[in-house]
Amino acid sequence: MTQRLARVCTTYLRQQRQSIKHADNRLTPTVWTCGLKGFGTSPKSSDGDGDGPEAPAPPGPAFSDLSRGSSLFGRRRSLSPLERVSQLLPQDSLSKEVWELREAETEEQSQKGPVTGEDHSDVQSPRDVGDVDAQDALIQGEETQEQSRRTGAMERMMCFGEALLAEYRRNRRLQFRKMFQLQEGMKLQSNWGVIPHQDIAGRPAGTVLRTSLGLPMLLRRPSLEEFTLFMRRGPAIAYPKDASAMLMMMDVSEGDSVLESGSGSGAMSLFLSRAVGSRGSVLSVEVREDHHKRSVLNYQRWRSTWKLRRGEDWLDNVHFHHGDLINSAPLLAGQSFNSVALDMVSPHLALPAVVPHLHNGAICAVYLANVTQIIDLLEGLRCSSLPLVCERIIEVQYRDWLLGPSLKKDGTFNQRRPMSEENVDSEEDVSTDEEKEELTSSKQAPFGSVPYIARPHPEQLGHTAFLVKLRKILK
Ligand SMILES: C[S@@+](CC[C@H](N)C(=O)[O-])C[C@H]1O[C@@H](n2cnc3c(N)ncnc32)[C@H](O)[C@@H]1O
Repeated sequence: MTQRLARVCTTYLRQQRQSIKHADNRLTPTVWTCGLKGFGTSPKSSDGDGDGPEAPAPPGPAFSDLSRGSSLFGRRRSLSPLERVSQLLPQDSLSKEVWELREAETEEQSQKGPVTGEDHSDVQSPRDVGDVDAQDALIQGEETQEQSRRTGAMERMMCFGEALLAEYRRNRRLQFRKMFQLQEGMKLQSNWGVIPHQDIAGRPAGTVLRTSLGLPMLLRRPSLEEFTLFMRRGPAIAYPKDASAMLMMMDVSEGDSVLESGSGSGAMSLFLSRAVGSRGSVLSVEVREDHHKRSVLNYQRWRSTWKLRRGEDWLDNVHFHHGDLINSAPLLAGQSFNSVALDMVSPHLALPAVVPHLHNGAICAVYLANVTQIIDLLEGLRCSSLPLVCERIIEVQYRDWLLGPSLKKDGTFNQRRPMSEENVDSEEDVSTDEEKEELTSSKQAPFGSVPYIARPHPEQLGHTAFLVKLRKILK
């Protein structure tokens, strides 16, 4: 039977390697697909996304790495050869004989008693593994709540209705990331296994649960930045890196009154909403009805998830207006703004309506994808008598890096070498195998004895936009 098992396993591994290869081939050097390769959540999947098709892939490399699997997912236990082989297979495909053998081994091991430093109790079905994690997570959750009670800051458990993020990382790379709404009776589906939503509800954010395939999945709450990257879009959003630079450029402060156009998908509106705070307000103008509705919906979704997460209301300080900014004189009559953010085609056509309502000396920040659009804007200004000067044109670039301990081929840490051995060939090799990760994590090297690899991430975010800073002056 062992031979049969080995045969099945070899075939399965071959298939796995093949599919991983395919997934890797789909990786493009740009950011748009990375981090989400190889996971399938068809519109039919019961993820509780509730938002139609899958959320678009966020930009940026597959996010900086967490430490090796060990630190994120806890210490691994040693497995018997049968467990090692059978865990490589989809658990559904294991025959009754294999399960019986595994159970027999468990019994044998439990009779031997616990082994110091090792725990053999993971000779279980993935479901059971999940249950062990579940108990740990619940205990952790209770401890966190107790701690929060003492410090006065009550941490809320993840609950139905909230928007959450699921993440799976392997070999320092993000393989799967999905935002979904936690809903009763639904399941989180991925190529890396399934987790019923009910197993997630009631646990602290940041919990790691095993999928039906026994793989560790991190469940946590999205930041506002992540929410905007994953929320359903109408038009392209103002990317967070650019949005934050715009907020700085406009010097947006609490209590400000800000004009924005177009609302688009509502990403910039959300960032502005947080920046102006409870004493401030945002007027967001959008010419297209579908985009107007999309931005309102995304704003409401964030507000309702916030309420569930924090137990308090997110600010209701954005007024979404459906209309054309170019003809907005009646709408703007009697209003004045501390700053203006424009992310729309032909912004120079809207400036005559907007500028009279901008405070003297204040900033109108313009988000444009192409340099030719900036030329149109500047040419529009040159041919008008608007009291605006262009102070800066910038492009915000982030550069992600890979940084981690350098590993030998066997998965153990490389050691720093004395100067004299400098020319000896390095055995450095970045491990790509999970088993090596296991080996590495269990061997402690003293502080400062391990060299690191540190280089720019191979997948970088490409161009998003240029930002133009226009200041209103008194002529
Ligand atoms: C790229 S999107 C804006 C995205 C938005 N900043 C976000 O972060 O989600 C540009 C939007 O400007 C809108 N727009 C274009 N011309 C407009 C006009 N004259 N008045 C109001 N909105 C306009 C478009 O319909 C489109 O929804």
